[in-house]
Amino acid sequence: MPEPAKKFPEDFEWGVSTSAYQVEEDIHNDWEQAGIKAGKAIEHRRRFNEDLAHMKHMGLKAYRFSIEWARLEPHKGQWQEQELIACLQRIRQLKAAGITPYLTLWHFTQPVWVAKAGGWQNPQTVEHYLNYVSKVLKVLGPEVDDWLTLNEPEVYAVMAYFKGRWPPFGQSRQQMERALGHLLRAHAQAYQLIHQIDPVARVGLAKSLASLKPLRAWHPGDQLAAWAYPQAFNWSLLAALSGQGPTFPFNWSSIPGLAESLDWLGVNYYARYYISLDGRLMTENGRTATYWDRQNASQDLTELLLHSNTYFQKSKIPVLITENGIHDADDSVRPCYLLEHLQALQQARAQGVNIKGYFHWTLVDDFEWAEAYGPKYGLLDRERHWRSSAYLYQQVIQTGQLPQVLAGCTNQK
Ligand code: BGC
Repeated sequence: MPEPAKKFPEDFEWGVSTSAYQVEEDIHNDWEQAGIKAGKAIEHRRRFNEDLAHMKHMGLKAYRFSIEWARLEPHKGQWQEQELIACLQRIRQLKAAGITPYLTLWHFTQPVWVAKAGGWQNPQTVEHYLNYVSKVLKVLGPEVDDWLTLNEPEVYAVMAYFKGRWPPFGQSRQQMERALGHLLRAHAQAYQLIHQIDPVARVGLAKSLASLKPLRAWHPGDQLAAWAYPQAFNWSLLAALSGQGPTFPFNWSSIPGLAESLDWLGVNYYARYYISLDGRLMTENGRTATYWDRQNASQDLTELLLHSNTYFQKSKIPVLITENGIHDADDSVRPCYLLEHLQALQQARAQGVNIKGYFHWTLVDDFEWAEAYGPKYGLLDRERHWRSSAYLYQQVIQTGQLPQVLAGCTNQK
């Protein structure tokens, strides 16, 4: 294996990621309506200057965050332009602090009126989303170069329409497939639209890549499941996005414009799961995995990145790690988790993957969807106290390389 470079490149994008509903106060969207209420979240709006000072002090070069559709268009066609102006101001503040904005246009939430009209089951949601994108681009386009159309569309489709865990709590395979089809249509059309409005924009999306291993390594059924699920939810999508097809089992390559609708690929990676023939995600010892069971396996990130790269041999688009992190209230595992995953990036870079940046999830302990305020993913806690991993990240950014403490890492909770 080639020896990884010791240093990250000078222009590497060191960042953190958030999403609006998970950090901002007083958002009234479909989640709130469905009873999954973030309330004041972590008051990231009121405390923006303070949070920005933390980012600056950490040495961050980039900040990935999302704009909330429900704030901008709380009722159909009634645009709250002042929301865009407020967002513009924060973007200017970030840039003045030397921090590049990466703006996500959709991160799991929509206005109540969209949800009431059928959400992503309804093909008209694609048009409504595009109207919203166009409004945002006209005001923020001149200030933002990097856009994410969607965050983890396949995770959302599974959780909201198949597993019944997120609003609207659907439990049907057909609904899941339909929702995902509409989301991907929305992405493909938004890609074109963003480029029409802002020709210098760079457009990506955040794709979740979970690692799935067969529960019983020797069992053909488990091996089949560990092949089929990533095929369905990871690789068929990357194949369609890179212009290959027809894809199996979902033929996303038939979606107009989806081929070559990426200027860069965002990868969200957290953990490894095990899977057996029946398709359940499990822990290593065969228990059904709960939200809390996320096995750290940084080497799988290298593997997944190398495999992703095979789809983009022709276009050679860059990759950004748009999320990576761990819930760890006492910060006993996060320092090693961080270093080992950065080392996994070095390994992938040494083998030819063009990785442009890394965004840790997340800056401050936030609202974690159905798990509410339970999981603690922050480099900082809610009171904005720095955990030791925050200092470590700061050191990595300052020096552009990993410190020599990896040998002592155990990396498991
Ligand atoms: C989502 C984030 C979430 C994180 C940790 C990701 O799948 O994009 O919104 O907070 O997982 O649970």
